[in-house]
Amino acid sequence: MWVPAGQARPDRGCTREDLPALGARGRCVETETACSYGEAMRAITVIPGQQGSVTLTDMPEPPDEDGPILVQTQAVGICGTDLEIIGGEYGSAPPGQDRLVIGHETLGRVAEAAPGTGFGAGDLVVGIVRRRDPVPCPACAAGHWDMCMNGQYTERGIKGRHGYASERYRIHPEYLVAVDPALGILGVLLEPTTVVAKAWDHIEKIGRRAAWAPEKVLITGAGPIGLLAALLATQRGYQTYVLDRVTEGRKPEMVRRLGATYVHSEDLGEAAAEADIVIECTGHLQMLLEAGPQHVRYRIICLTGVSAAGAEANVDPGLLNRNMVLQNSVLFGSVNANRHHYELAAKALAQADSGWLGDLITRQVPLDQWTDAYARQPDDIKTILNFPDASP
Ligand code: BGC
Repeated sequence: MWVPAGQARPDRGCTREDLPALGARGRCVETETACSYGEAMRAITVIPGQQGSVTLTDMPEPPDEDGPILVQTQAVGICGTDLEIIGGEYGSAPPGQDRLVIGHETLGRVAEAAPGTGFGAGDLVVGIVRRRDPVPCPACAAGHWDMCMNGQYTERGIKGRHGYASERYRIHPEYLVAVDPALGILGVLLEPTTVVAKAWDHIEKIGRRAAWAPEKVLITGAGPIGLLAALLATQRGYQTYVLDRVTEGRKPEMVRRLGATYVHSEDLGEAAAEADIVIECTGHLQMLLEAGPQHVRYRIICLTGVSAAGAEANVDPGLLNRNMVLQNSVLFGSVNANRHHYELAAKALAQADSGWLGDLITRQVPLDQWTDAYARQPDDIKTILNFPDASP
């Protein structure tokens, strides 16, 4: 049964106001009434496909079959995918349910962990987004669920499985990653970093097909994904250019603080001509295609932005084909991340300047004001929604 959060329920003796008094296993410690936080747990949910359906709802306790580890959510990050799901353009609920708990960028603290799971109460953790398909396809069978071949994978908070924007969730250890406590709240940046860690992993795998000495990297888009892709580029010692259309705000400065060069989108030509590696992070491929085909170059272009269909561009497919063939160029897409990429991302964050990472988080919004978190503001880079810290 779904009820709006905070609404008193006549069929139970415990209301929202009792929440701080709830014990770890769901009894109201003050009144000793059987008030499970299954009746009081708040979550951000949508009816997928239905714009305007997003709300803060009370939902049942995470079921035991979700895993032997109970995690108390500290924060969730908000990205374009969440806004698409809220806009009714993307996402699906678990089978047989109307609503989907959203949220796939997360940071939590273990509340309870069964012995032998490798986790203990108090551990700072991040839940992995994707689950292997049940068949499984060859990629999923090998733990490469990010490369699922039959589309039957599920994704927490996105596709067929509840997400992490709930006060608590349960999980199996295979899909939980420990985060260096020194990172603190910055651990919420792990999931977006995994997306670029995978992109870099695959660029490097493709690059190994022949001897190669890339020097220049172009990143299109100075949002969180673009800036994190640039962080990993500078960590690798590349001359890095980051392109965006803004001229003000924090983004150009964030690029410069990495030791990279900020390029305004109108000046794309030169950077596009010289880059050995391009990571597209805006979903606007036409910008690159229009600037690119006349430049003959051996290069690897990785697309990470999920775009809407229907964009138009003036591209000469013959010229594009000829130049890509004659230069052995590669254009490929990259989505999601497997456990290996979470480990790579954790290392990249540990090596990064924490002040720079902290400045990526431009707004922290408490759960009570959740609607503000999902309303985009001009200077936003990464907005996070903070959950009340009920850890032991
Ligand atoms: C998430 C990925 C996910 C993709 C497609 C992205 O926002 O970060 O984990 O695979 O959306 O659903």
